[in-house]
Amino acid sequence: MYLIAPSILSADFARLGEEVTRVIDAGADWIHFDVMDNHFVPNLTIGPAVAVALKPYCARPQGRRAALDVHLMVEPVDALIEPFAAAGADVISFHPEASLHVDRTLQLIRASGCKAGLAFNPATPLSALEYVLDKVDLVLIMSVNPGFGGQSFIEAALRKIERVRTLIDASGLDVRLEVDGGIKVQNIQRVAAAGADTFVAGSAIFGCADYHAAIGAMRYELARSSQASRVA
Ligand code: DX5
Ligand code: ZN
Repeated sequence: MYLIAPSILSADFARLGEEVTRVIDAGADWIHFDVMDNHFVPNLTIGPAVAVALKPYCARPQGRRAALDVHLMVEPVDALIEPFAAAGADVISFHPEASLHVDRTLQLIRASGCKAGLAFNPATPLSALEYVLDKVDLVLIMSVNPGFGGQSFIEAALRKIERVRTLIDASGLDVRLEVDGGIKVQNIQRVAAAGADTFVAGSAIFGCADYHAAIGAMRYELARSSQASRVA
């Protein structure tokens, strides 16, 4: 099943609760929460206190509930896992370069009750996955260099997504394949065809006046993609 995860990095930070409500009502499956430390990446954003404040907005009275998808672009990683788990994170992803002990960090995330994600920058090889795939619930392929919203999709990410899809399928494990950066209505179908199943989109959703229309157009493209793969 395809999931759409709007990144609140491109939302109005003065009205974050309202933005989360609006985007869930518009059809968001997950809320992507970008944590930057001005060290691992050249930008500074939001931390556990904001996650605590937003968590109640992830559940809607009609029963819709969006998972809180925390993307840590911080170094070191481990000390932030418990605060984000306590804040209600459902998924916590980190970059292998940012942890000295990737296996231990993955175990800490799962022990805290969250799903564990491993994130790969555009130039980072997938070698860190080889011995830990069974400890990963999600692989996050960056299709921009992390740090900012609104950048252009890096085409080489498609080859990497294909490679990860092959690894996941060969393993038989239940692992999501998420892509983050430069996802738009115009390219989401190609990214799905490469093997991604979870799509982060910041500026392409929050940059539109009508979030429902933006998410709807993405879903339309994804439905075309599944039709194409059924025919093939
Ligand atoms: C970039 C972040 C992304 C970003 C995506 O460092 O990890 O989640 O918000 O923004 P867009 O969709 O605008 O590229
Ligand atoms: Zn992100």
